[in-house]
Amino acid sequence: MGIILKGISKSYDGQAVLKNLNLKINQGEFHVLLGPSGNGKTTALSVMAGLVNPDSGSVFIGGGEVTSLSPDKRNIGFVFQDHALFPHLQVFDNIAYGLRVRGIKEKKIKKIVAHYLELVRLQDMYNKYPFQLSGGQKQRIAIARALAFKPDALLMDEPLSHLDALECERIRDELKRIQAATRVTTCYVTHDHSEASALADRISVLHKGRIEQIERPEEIFYHPKTDFVAKFVGADNILEARLVEINGNTTIFSLNSLGLTDQLKIKARTYPVFARNTKHRLCLHPEKIVVSHTPKGKNNFLARIIDIVPQGAVFKIIGEIVGLSGLKLRAVVPKTAFKINSNTEKIWFSFPPDALHPLCGRSCRAAIPQRACNNINLFK
Ligand SMILES: Nc1ncnc2c1ncn2[C@@H]1O[C@H](COP(=O)(O)OP(=O)(O)OP(=O)(O)O)[C@@H](O)[C@H]1O
Ligand SMILES: [Mg+2]
Repeated sequence: MGIILKGISKSYDGQAVLKNLNLKINQGEFHVLLGPSGNGKTTALSVMAGLVNPDSGSVFIGGGEVTSLSPDKRNIGFVFQDHALFPHLQVFDNIAYGLRVRGIKEKKIKKIVAHYLELVRLQDMYNKYPFQLSGGQKQRIAIARALAFKPDALLMDEPLSHLDALECERIRDELKRIQAATRVTTCYVTHDHSEASALADRISVLHKGRIEQIERPEEIFYHPKTDFVAKFVGADNILEARLVEINGNTTIFSLNSLGLTDQLKIKARTYPVFARNTKHRLCLHPEKIVVSHTPKGKNNFLARIIDIVPQGAVFKIIGEIVGLSGLKLRAVVPKTAFKINSNTEKIWFSFPPDALHPLCGRSCRAAIPQRACNNINLFK
């Protein structure tokens, strides 16, 4: 059951877009395919939908193989970026379309359409034409239409990208509620990591046609396996460090970022699989850095302020570590947590040892014994 892609490859003009892609989406799961532009998300979704034929590999939906079936034979609901409602049909007939194609009687169709209009909270709009609806309303009708014939899978390609931030958040929450109510197996494509984490049971990060990491949102965000995933989800402070000493629960690393000779020590938790004198890449979430006028905690670095960017309720502060020219760290702090005077030139960046997460290329669950890598309490 669910959706399975087995060994899917696809090239266009000799360029490999999907490279032996394997993915198993569980029955009832809300799965998000996340990745930057041009990395094969739409192509992967189109292969599931039957809109693109893979060069090799097979596709299973709802328990059966569908690789050679056309889209209309796959029993899938599809929601595109631009909602694509039939412009000449009223809302009722748009939702009824897939039911009529399946030969369902009009009396039953009325009931089903009423149910899905209620689900998307647009009961009063049944006789409107698409041009009379807002973008968000159109998107909700498109979702109702995709769900009405009880598909085995719901496939969505950046369906909220044309909406303003408020409308986007509102429909996103609605979508989550509808999926939870219907438990339809869902594959949702986006390049927006906050949208992915708000919606997903699990996220696949797609990079150059391959899945780089597939896990629950909190693991993707706080335990990225690779530089690519870390940077893509905003954990973009990456420190190159050499493990110099293990002291019980604390491990001392020296920073040798950018080939500098200066030795700067940082304290991290002890990760039992790491040995002395080995090199590591440690990522540090910007929001885990505490910014203050005095040093606080176990790792304190004086930083020269390079830039302060106000972003809604937070400041994004970029600082260059004093004594390590070239090492820049980015901190994200609530505006209420820190006062900056116009003449402030240097501040302290501090972070606790367990804020550092090693990018070891493996899932923390597999690589590190339980609780050894708990910069958030995932394993409780
Ligand atoms: N029909 C096509 N013919 C030729 N090349 C294509 C075709 N469809 C996609 N590509 C190429 O395949 C690559 C992946 O495209 P795809 O649309 O899957 O990316 P994406 O991850 O969905 O990107 P975006 O976030 O911009 O929508 C791109 O380099 C694109 O140019
Ligand atoms: Mg796309």
